[in-house]
Amino acid sequence: MLRTHTCGELTVQDAGKEVTLSGWVFRSRDQGGMVFIDLRDRYGFTQLVFLNPAKNMAGKGAYRKQMSDAELQSLYDSSKTLGREYVIKATGIVQERSNKNPNITTGDIEILVESLEVLNASKTPPFTLEDETDGGDELRMKYRYLDLRRDAVKDNLLNRHKVAKAIREYLDGQGFADIETPFLIKSTPEGARDFVVPSRVNQGEFYALPQSPQTFKQLLMVAGFDRYYQIVRCFRDEDLRADRQPEFTQIDCEMAFVEQEDVLNMFEGMVKYAFKKVRNIEFPNFPRMTYADALRLYGNDKPDIRFGMLLHEITSVVKGKGFKVLDDAEYAGVISVPGASEYTRKQTDDLTEFVKRPQIGAKGLIYVKYSEDGSLKSSVDKFYTPDDLKKWAEAAEAKPGDLLLVVSGDKATSRRALSELRLEMGNRLGLRDKNVYKPLWVLDFPLLEQDKETGRWVACHHPFTSWKKEDEHYFETAPGEIRANAYDLVINGVELSSGSVRIHDRGKQEKMFQAIGLSKEEWEKKFSFILNAFEYGAPPHGGIAFGFDRFCSICISNEDYIRDFIAFPKNNAGRDTMMDTPATINEEQLKELGIQVNAPE
Ligand code: AMO
Repeated sequence: MLRTHTCGELTVQDAGKEVTLSGWVFRSRDQGGMVFIDLRDRYGFTQLVFLNPAKNMAGKGAYRKQMSDAELQSLYDSSKTLGREYVIKATGIVQERSNKNPNITTGDIEILVESLEVLNASKTPPFTLEDETDGGDELRMKYRYLDLRRDAVKDNLLNRHKVAKAIREYLDGQGFADIETPFLIKSTPEGARDFVVPSRVNQGEFYALPQSPQTFKQLLMVAGFDRYYQIVRCFRDEDLRADRQPEFTQIDCEMAFVEQEDVLNMFEGMVKYAFKKVRNIEFPNFPRMTYADALRLYGNDKPDIRFGMLLHEITSVVKGKGFKVLDDAEYAGVISVPGASEYTRKQTDDLTEFVKRPQIGAKGLIYVKYSEDGSLKSSVDKFYTPDDLKKWAEAAEAKPGDLLLVVSGDKATSRRALSELRLEMGNRLGLRDKNVYKPLWVLDFPLLEQDKETGRWVACHHPFTSWKKEDEHYFETAPGEIRANAYDLVINGVELSSGSVRIHDRGKQEKMFQAIGLSKEEWEKKFSFILNAFEYGAPPHGGIAFGFDRFCSICISNEDYIRDFIAFPKNNAGRDTMMDTPATINEEQLKELGIQVNAPE
């Protein structure tokens, strides 16, 4: 080994020992009489010291090795040639520091260097490798291997490893078997788009990379494996966001002979185990909420329940006063923002702009200022008396000092806008506390939803999800009303996982395919493998998949920016700027694959 110790482990207990350290030059300070170098590796920093014989400093060092003045001078001179990020090996004596640094574990000692070897030189890095770096996103992505040297990013990945280890420990303890499933498959039905891979041997034919191992894990249940898991890469060619990557990792799980309650309990246990192990955080049992209530009270299906400010529907309260916007609205809803009644015109205009942004899509915002003295003043005073507004305030359970924000229009858009507004106000008022974790199971998702553009019914989760018996009659009358045996785990407004109890019966599976508009021919072609499997003793089964990158970002830093927890992520355009990919391939390769690419016009 090129070292006896790491840069993170020596303390005063080691004073007097001769040690060898290897690592990267982090900082160096030349003080004339001596040079200090902070040597860094994965484990920490250790200060190296070189004494200058020309300034009669060498005599101050308790060297072990017999060295002539010339040797000491040469050692000192070479210490001054070391640039940032040089890789060096230094041997010397551990000594107690006179000037201690309480901020680092090795801050009580330094190494009096007796010999030095440069293992590799380094160009000056294009950005500083400090916690607060001067490198922008693009640059850091291009030189990701340097970015990964920074403590903040490095620690994220090491903690990711700890989360994975805890999860494996738990699942192993519960009898789950880790089984790999193929990456070259036929397209899966998760809704988002497939990445496809051409086959050279079968020209003109393509594999798809899995969006998830959904059908395989179900087949493993048919095979009798009973409890399966895999920490597995999934691929989706969809638009990217802070919490989405084109390739991401799932903790994918499936169990046989279970009902919904068993799956919820098993995986609530897993989350509790991992948080305790990695962060020493203990959770009480997770609360549960139906999808319908989540939409009614929070305006979305992944509520951040760290704070209140709930939505209240006031559709019937606001009608009949001659204000067309509200009279005609399918829905009017309100949130009351605590202590914001004195917002200025500029501030309320700002909020109006916020809800009118295209991605939110509300037509406007009505506000009511409910002052501390009990008076009520609104942006629609022309139509509503203070008594009318009082009724709004009562319906909103508002208190004097609150600012009421009302959005109206179609139900779905208005609820979404109120939900976004609620989160924004939560941020502004500091109610989304980073130190607080509020997990929540959201249950009873709808089985089907109507695609706005085509009018076709599509599976909300995926078409292998079973439904509640008592809702079966809606298949003919109101498919949107059928509730699925599907559940999500949400923490602080982030969807961490989704799962369901599956269909395990050919007839039911065909009914589902029919409901989503597949013809017999289509489902035979796409899914005969799983339909056939259901005829050979498929046990009742259900499962769940966690977004592992999201799990890590939430568990480790309570954020939903997953890129920081992936060693080599893609940028917002789905590009790896370090490798510069996606990229074209040469004609030869295309020809061999039997692919013709038309030159752009
Ligand atoms: P679903 O599609 O909901 O379910 O995915 C499960 C979880 O994976 C995470 N996730 C993502 N993370 C990062 N980037 C992405 N692009 C991305 N897409 C999804 C989310 C999500 O909750 N087969 C089913 C699961 C099942 O029914 O067992 C499935 O894949 O955290």
